[in-house]
Amino acid sequence: MSDWTRVASVAEFKRDEVRVVDVDNLMVAVYNLDGEYIAIEDVCPHDGSEIASGCVKNGILECPRHGATFDLRSGDVLTPPAYDPLEMMQLRVENGFVEVRDGRWD
Ligand code: FES
Repeated sequence: MSDWTRVASVAEFKRDEVRVVDVDNLMVAVYNLDGEYIAIEDVCPHDGSEIASGCVKNGILECPRHGATFDLRSGDVLTPPAYDPLEMMQLRVENGFVEVRDGRWD
């Protein structure tokens, strides 16, 4: 299990913003969904491309490559061509900073 990696302060991480950070050579996309923070591996489970540049509407992320959609809060896949869920990363808010680390929630 890796150490926590700082993403941004709560004050500077704007609503509906996404930030991508390197966590031990794993790219992690961190979203501020109207004040709710969510972290996923920045990889589409369909074909392995980055997914953070995809559009987000109402908590639904659309892969920019082939258009699969995912529920960002659960990671569940909603429409093909992907069939596997997003990889959710651990996230916490500590001393006013959003932090993430590699590893699934138990
Ligand atoms: S790489 Fe994301 S839907 Fe194909």
